[in-house]
Formats: sequence, C-alpha cells, structure tokens
Amino acid sequence: MKFFLDSAKIDQIEYALDMWDIDGITTNPHHIQVAGQPFMKAIHDIAKLFEGTKKTVSVEINPNYTSFDDMVTDAEKLADISPNFVIKLPCIEPTFKAIRVLSEKGIRVNTTLIFSPSQAIQAMRVGSYYVSPFVGWKEANGEDVSKLIQEIVTIRNNYGFKTEVLCAAMRNGRQIVDAALAGADIVTAYLDIYQAAFDHPYTHKGMGIFQEYWDKTPFE
Ligand code: E4P
Repeated sequence: MKFFLDSAKIDQIEYALDMWDIDGITTNPHHIQVAGQPFMKAIHDIAKLFEGTKKTVSVEINPNYTSFDDMVTDAEKLADISPNFVIKLPCIEPTFKAIRVLSEKGIRVNTTLIFSPSQAIQAMRVGSYYVSPFVGWKEANGEDVSKLIQEIVTIRNNYGFKTEVLCAAMRNGRQIVDAALAGADIVTAYLDIYQAAFDHPYTHKGMGIFQEYWDKTPFE
C-alpha cells in the first residue's frame, strides 16, 4: 500500500520523504493557499523535490474551469511542468471525455471529489489513473465509508481496470486500516494524521515502565 502526503508545504513534504519515504503527494487549492506561495511557484517547488523519481504529485486544475476545452487546456499546461504530475480533475461529466483525450497524450488523471461507487466506475472505465474517493468528507456527512472503499475496490478488481484507488482525506488510523483491508492501493493524509496513526500512548507508557526496570538493574 502506498502512503501519499496531502500537503503543498515544502517542509512537510521533506519531512515525510526523509522520515517515512512517503510515496507521493496530493495537493488541492486549499493546500496551495495555506502553503503561502503563488500557485505556480508552489507547484514548481514541489516538482523539483521529485525530479528523477517515479513518485507522483497530484495537482488540481483551476476549479473554475468546468468545460471540456478549458479543463484539457489547463491539464496540458500543468502536465508540461513535470513528468511526475498527475492532473486532478473533478468527477463531473466533461472530465470523462477529458480523461480519454489526456490519456491518449500520455497525461495521467486523478479523478477527484468522488463520493459514490457509480462515479468511480465511469472514471475507471474511461482510463483514470487514480480515483480519489473523499473518505473523510463522506464520513463527516454521516455516511458509511468502509462500504464505499470496498465497493470501489471490488468493482475495479472485477473488471480488471488499471486505475489505482486513492483514498483521500483520511482522518485517522482506523480509516487507513479499513482502506488497507479493502485492498485500496493508496491513502493520502495530513502529516499529523500519519503521526497519530503511527503512534500509541501505550507504547510510551511501556517505554516508561521498561526504563524504570532498566535503571534499577546493574548493567554488569
Ligand atoms: C486529496 O487528494 C485531497 O486533496 C484531500 O484529501 C482533500 O481533503 P482534505 O484537504 O480535507 O483532507
């Protein structure tokens, strides 16, 4: 299973690469805005970090572009910046044609803002490189997310689609485990979500207990 970092902050990306060998990056307009740089500078800086690697960086087109022509033009412009870029297009009707046209030109698409298996089926059958169900957003709406992930993965496997299932907006370790159990290929989460998921208070409690015994025991 691949772990992507959901961030456009260079210091966070460097940390996640160094500490966890993170497999890739997902960004969106919110992440770019909080990174505090103009869009173009932010994505060029991220691209530099991944030069010469096979790791992917998902970059979203201008969300104001909702026609097929505008989406494809913007996607091509972004894809020209880096071979690592996978272009995020929202799961709306023009995107399905854009996926086909862009794929023929070797441009990979991450179909984003997916909330139902039926959206994912169409994106997968027309050749989306990634599909991104927004797990955390859906769960915050009181909906069952384990079923969503299981159904998308099962459909992908049933039909042998090449698409990778990228579970996005993961909010805790349990969601990451559910995605792994369902056979999702990738999860993406914030740095602090991974830090919490990789930790447990009993680990620290246990270390304290063992330190006390160690300190009371002669070494030789
Ligand atoms: C992933 O590709 C998305 O950008 C991301 O997970 C969106 O949600 P969040 O910023 O609310 O986590």
